[in-house]
Amino acid sequence: MKLLLTNIKELLQIREQDTKKIAGGAMKELPSLKNAWLLLEDNTIKDFGTMDSLADISAEKTIDCTGKMVLPTWCDSHTHIVYAGNREQEFVDRINGLSYQEIAEKGGGILNSAKKLQETHEEDLYKQSAQRLEQVMRMGTGAIEIKSGYGLTTEAELKMLRVAKKLGDNFPVTVKTTFLGAHAVPAEFKGDKDGYLNHIITNMLPKVAQENLADYIDIFCEKGYFSVEDTHKLLQAGNSYGLMPKIHVNQFNAIGGVKAGVVHDALSVDHLEVLTNADISVLQNSDTMPVALPSCSYFLSIPYTPGRELIDAGLPLALATDYNPGSTPSGNMNFVVATACIKMKLTPEEAINAATLNGAYAMGLSDTHGSITKGKNASVMVTKEIPSYAYLPYDFGNNNIETVIINGKTIE
Ligand code: NIG
Ligand code: FE
Repeated sequence: MKLLLTNIKELLQIREQDTKKIAGGAMKELPSLKNAWLLLEDNTIKDFGTMDSLADISAEKTIDCTGKMVLPTWCDSHTHIVYAGNREQEFVDRINGLSYQEIAEKGGGILNSAKKLQETHEEDLYKQSAQRLEQVMRMGTGAIEIKSGYGLTTEAELKMLRVAKKLGDNFPVTVKTTFLGAHAVPAEFKGDKDGYLNHIITNMLPKVAQENLADYIDIFCEKGYFSVEDTHKLLQAGNSYGLMPKIHVNQFNAIGGVKAGVVHDALSVDHLEVLTNADISVLQNSDTMPVALPSCSYFLSIPYTPGRELIDAGLPLALATDYNPGSTPSGNMNFVVATACIKMKLTPEEAINAATLNGAYAMGLSDTHGSITKGKNASVMVTKEIPSYAYLPYDFGNNNIETVIINGKTIE
């Protein structure tokens, strides 16, 4: 089916197929066409141009975009949307003075979510997660990465990944899955972190690989969770199954996780709220994408990733939500883009590049997502009538996305 979008006020993020990621000063540019048309055929971006070049195109459906902008859908490269229940009590505990770390030390946090998830039937878990996915699709997310890590038993980790895969099968959004067995040490292994890590490597990982449930491998490299040494050990094991790393590093402490990730050719290193000059140098000599998660900083009141510094150091940056029940109960990429501008001092162009093209890179989806490129996936969003694209982050907290088309399907 042919779908034609006409009279587009500005068609944003037009790129050649070979543009995989953008870094440094180039992030300030957002190539666009004013007064444009865009043709989608089935699930592919077929063609585009300016209105004066619009020849006779017969399309089954035409959308008049007068006064509206069109962008590629958001690429959310870091989420934990498959989870059971919520943790609003911990939110209240934090308001009353407990820290995120103190809550975790008392058996709350990730272990609290793991308990809930282990007790939740697979169908119910699917239902809860599907609701979240539908919600973020309506807000413009067209490709998403989903992690395990709230199972912490072989059975529950496999259950999470099966649910994530099924979401990808049943919805038009493109889903990439990541095995995060090393998210926390479960109660059964209390005081025996090494035992749990061995269990992950010898029991969980082979099953995850055998059932082909994960594209990537992740670890929470942080004081009180897993060390740099653990990270090396796990990533090496993951590599033997062909799983590239995308890892949680430098959320609260810089302990050398960035370098460990780069050594193992991580596709991305995520969080980076606390960053050293040495970490920046390591990233400068790598293909690893730094990923910032500003909604997490907002919700936990922790520092924002120094995105301005990273870009000024010539590095690329991707933005993602981190949607999860503990540190970021929000999957709204529009809020992420606005917060990156407001709190991290990214320009609107930089933030949009980080949330589209660079986000696609951080999921291994550069060939199909993240830009308006002929042959790429027909995943685009139409804004309401807005004065300029800078209005999107400026008008933070409000929804300016009117129509979302994912893989050629209009989301209702
Ligand atoms: O990315 N930092 C580790 N993991 C998650 C949050 C885990 C939780 O609190 O449930 C994150 O922020
Ligand atoms: Fe996370």
